[in-house]
Amino acid sequence: MTIRQILTVPDQRLRQKARPVKKIDKEIQTLLDDMLETMRDAPGIGLAATQIGVDWRVIVLELPEEEDDPLAGQPIFLVNPELVSVSGNEEAHEGCLSVPGYVGLVERATEVTVQGLDRRGRKVRIDATGLLARAFQHEIDHLDGVLYVDRLSGPDKLFRLEEMEERGEEAGEM
Ligand code: NI
Repeated sequence: MTIRQILTVPDQRLRQKARPVKKIDKEIQTLLDDMLETMRDAPGIGLAATQIGVDWRVIVLELPEEEDDPLAGQPIFLVNPELVSVSGNEEAHEGCLSVPGYVGLVERATEVTVQGLDRRGRKVRIDATGLLARAFQHEIDHLDGVLYVDRLSGPDKLFRLEEMEERGEEAGEM
């Protein structure tokens, strides 16, 4: 596995719309492995292929084990992910590995159902809530060239990560 370089703003490759994967082959499996390694090294809780300059619709997520979520501590690989249902609404802090040093307040759905293909090409459907639901929405946005800074709750809702940490608050980076 190889740790890939994570692109940061204002790199225009972050604004590209990624292409659907037609066939899950060795190349895609290697990409998934590298993305997991890169995300863990960062560290982050999610990573989209767009963030390493690859324009396939592929995302990887993993919540820390200590998170209160049935899927915490397990890597989730999703190819051609799609949101099939969303509900609820919550404003919370969100950080992005491609926007280092900042966090923003963003409104997201609190419950989502996502479908796509797993690393062997089998259809999967995942129900997620809370932080994991937020991470799915954030990563799927990346595949469409959208960053959380485009979705801030207001013009004054972007903060320095340092200020947050001084206040003892946390935000997942993804
Ligand atoms: Ni991100």
